Amino acid sequence: MKLWGGRFKKSESKLMEDFNSSLSFDRQLYREDIEGSMVHVKMLAKCNILSSEESKAILSGLESILKDIEEGKLEVEGDYEDIHSFVEINLIERIGQVAKKLHTARSRNDQVALDFRLYAKRKALEVVENIEYLQDIIENLGDKNNVIMPGYTHLQRAQVVTFKHHIMAYYHMFKRDRERILNAICIMDESPLGCCALAGTTYDIDRNFTARELGFKKPVDNFLDGVSDRDYVIELISDFSIIMMHLSRLSEELILWSSKEFNFIQIDDEFSTGSSIMPQKKNPDAAELIRGKTGRVYGSLVSLLTTMKGIPLAYNKDMQEDKEQLFNSLDTVLSCLKIMSGMLSTLKVNEKNTFNAVKRGFLNATEAADYLVNKGMAFRDAHKVIGEIVLYCEDKNRAIEDLSLDELKKFSSLFEEDVYDFIDYKNTINRGIKRNLK
Ligand code: ARG
Repeated sequence: MKLWGGRFKKSESKLMEDFNSSLSFDRQLYREDIEGSMVHVKMLAKCNILSSEESKAILSGLESILKDIEEGKLEVEGDYEDIHSFVEINLIERIGQVAKKLHTARSRNDQVALDFRLYAKRKALEVVENIEYLQDIIENLGDKNNVIMPGYTHLQRAQVVTFKHHIMAYYHMFKRDRERILNAICIMDESPLGCCALAGTTYDIDRNFTARELGFKKPVDNFLDGVSDRDYVIELISDFSIIMMHLSRLSEELILWSSKEFNFIQIDDEFSTGSSIMPQKKNPDAAELIRGKTGRVYGSLVSLLTTMKGIPLAYNKDMQEDKEQLFNSLDTVLSCLKIMSGMLSTLKVNEKNTFNAVKRGFLNATEAADYLVNKGMAFRDAHKVIGEIVLYCEDKNRAIEDLSLDELKKFSSLFEEDVYDFIDYKNTINRGIKRNLK
């Protein structure tokens, strides 16, 4: 069933019909499509392009379609080209000839541009809510686990930090992600309705009215741009890609930390799986899946950038390919944010093991060098002295603080009794708090 055909002698091949149809995925836009049509009709009546009886009939028809879909009485499926055709043909079947006036002063080009912007805005806000929820969980986890652990560079133990400081790094990463999405919403917040096919319309319509009623800041400034702009989709998917990159880095740490080699954390049974052959195993599948699914979202970004890169203004059917990329990446990012929140809210930190890793890792070596600097030695010389001490300790399987003052003095006469306090892990953390390690 189509909304066109007058100029054709032959009917479309079934192969082409299936190839062209987008209903199987753009059915997700039904709410935005009907909402957009209702505001369009109100505007047509306000501008005396439709009579008030006509507009009332169309509005109640659209309302009944929306209600039936929401209540499961009308399935969005069948032999239709897209969601726009589905709604319009259903409307004609319900209220008759007057329904054919709905598409006055409108094209499917500005219609789809509108539906997709409305949808993108709504779902982007859902992502923001999920980020905020995850940030709360992270803050809580940090507050509960203000315990000493090694900080790493090159995945080698480097300096003492706290679990809280480490996990709060992700809080700040997600804070930027949230701001990026809110900024993208702000940029996309213009209504394309009224651009029509590509050049506006000869009817005296009111684009400010429709923009306002649909919750946009204003109508777009340029008709050609309005119908062919998909920057906002690309921008959102690139924001989602960055979120996934952050989730994936966090997942990687959870996977490492939950291994027996680290044993810093326990991922709850609720978010772990077992092995069908090795009875002892508990696998961090949730984290691995997040890490794995990151590739899908990157794929959507590259796919849509490639789709858009060579098409002339204005609308081209290539752009129908935008839908699945946004739908898929939204599904992925939303489910990954939820799973990460679940995993972190049930996570246990093994305080003893994080502390032992600090002790075995010479994580006060930099502080020991700083101690000598405070006593007057040049840092480069202090670095060398402590390096020699570490070598000595490694050989004897001891930590710097386990050496006696006599032993330390063999490396430098500047060592005094106060060194032990200075290189004590808790004291180094307390000094760290002063330098904002919270
Ligand atoms: N299904 C189409 C899309 O998603 C709707 C717009 C169709 N416009 C047209 N001129 N054929 O892009």
